[in-house]
Amino acid sequence: MSTTRKRLFIKTYGCQMNVYDSERMKDVLTPLGYESSDTPDGADLVILNTCHIREKAAEKVYSELGRLRPLKDEKAASGGMTIAVAGCVAQAEGAEIMRRAPVVDLVVGPQTYHKLPELIAQAHRAKGEALDTEFEVEDKFDKLGSDRQVEGYSAFVTVQEGCDKFCTFCVVPYTRGAEWSRPVDQIIAEIRALAAKGIREVTLLGQNVNAFHGAPPSGREADGAWGLGQLVRHVALIGGIERIRFTTSHPRDMDEDLIQAFADTPKLMPYFHLPVQSGSDTILKAMNRQHVAADYLATIARLREVRPDIAISGDMIVGFPGETDADFEATMELVRQVNYASCFSFKYSKRPGTPGAAMFNQIDEGVKSQRLAALQALLDSQQVAFNESMIGKTLPVLFEKPGRLDGQLHGRSPYLQSVHVDGPAELIGQIAEVAIETASRNALSGRLVGTKRSAA
Ligand code: 5AD
Ligand code: SF4
Repeated sequence: MSTTRKRLFIKTYGCQMNVYDSERMKDVLTPLGYESSDTPDGADLVILNTCHIREKAAEKVYSELGRLRPLKDEKAASGGMTIAVAGCVAQAEGAEIMRRAPVVDLVVGPQTYHKLPELIAQAHRAKGEALDTEFEVEDKFDKLGSDRQVEGYSAFVTVQEGCDKFCTFCVVPYTRGAEWSRPVDQIIAEIRALAAKGIREVTLLGQNVNAFHGAPPSGREADGAWGLGQLVRHVALIGGIERIRFTTSHPRDMDEDLIQAFADTPKLMPYFHLPVQSGSDTILKAMNRQHVAADYLATIARLREVRPDIAISGDMIVGFPGETDADFEATMELVRQVNYASCFSFKYSKRPGTPGAAMFNQIDEGVKSQRLAALQALLDSQQVAFNESMIGKTLPVLFEKPGRLDGQLHGRSPYLQSVHVDGPAELIGQIAEVAIETASRNALSGRLVGTKRSAA
């Protein structure tokens, strides 16, 4: 294996799991002599780790490939540039990508990137043949191991992949495959190694993270598969880990044990992302969400009962096929009832191969835009009100990096808000108490009132 120094540029699109996957791709490539670069200019290997969730995200890949072509031509004289497309567009489109964009040398799906070294060698031997989009999730994690190169104090850890829900708008069941959970021992080994490298906060990732049902730790086989609540409590025992989060959950997979974890595990942060997509039962049914709006509201009420300060975040889609004004109003009403701390909202985007794309009652783009604007105005006002409700409170903040201004620090509150304060750089990597003085839509600021070693 050659270990001459080579430059690697990875561009990540889409969700947090892609961020995790990009880091793991770097781990796989470091032993081959690849070093990260912040620009594709002059890179030996460029990887686009792509997202297929909405049309806009998928199309960005092709415009980026267009921009890379001259850079690849320039690099031809000095060793050449290998261009790889990874992630969900790779999975969905496979060899079609190399036909549409001949600049691409290799295509690797989200379950086979542990084989990048072989695929790169293959691409160098025979262009056009380096393609791997098998579903080998178990093999992937076995091969990746628990040693990761990390920077900072907060890390993502994939614990579950794939989805069996088949919401009628969504490509994930096709791009990420069936639901699969990593064994608990493997997850714990990875988080212990992260804690030893200074990580203080972990976010457990899964497309359906609360459907987690991992093989129990060795010696506890009699327990049967562990749910997410059990996993969270176990992660809380790892020395050095002060904060735990998880995302993304499905309302159907909420169980009482997980709800209780919010009550009995102070390290589990009081911020919960639970997408509902619509407030109309008719649309929820057409989306195949397998629950009604009242079920969702009952889950939120139960969470607030056990953890009164819990902040709720969500995802909404407007303009799903068949959505009437009354359906949209039901979404607005649900949003008023939940009162979100933050919420993502999207116009429905037709995705190839999904049942929604074939529905005859598609909604006009103009109507979608109007509904999105009204929804976002409401969500923005809720987010501002939530942030302003922090003024006068003292919050534990995990400081992650220097702020933009000299002498400033940037950190996160338990509710995932950005917090800016003036303070000494030694606090980076620590949790300290901050008296909140001002709030805007996207951030809080205040002054330090002391340091604290606990989670909440
Ligand atoms: N159109 C618009 N939004 C979508 N999402 C998923 N698929 C689509 C689609 N076809 C949104 C959902 C999901 C989030 C990750 O992306 O709200 O929760
Ligand atoms: Fe997509 Fe629905 Fe699965 Fe979430 S639960 S990944 S929205 S199919």
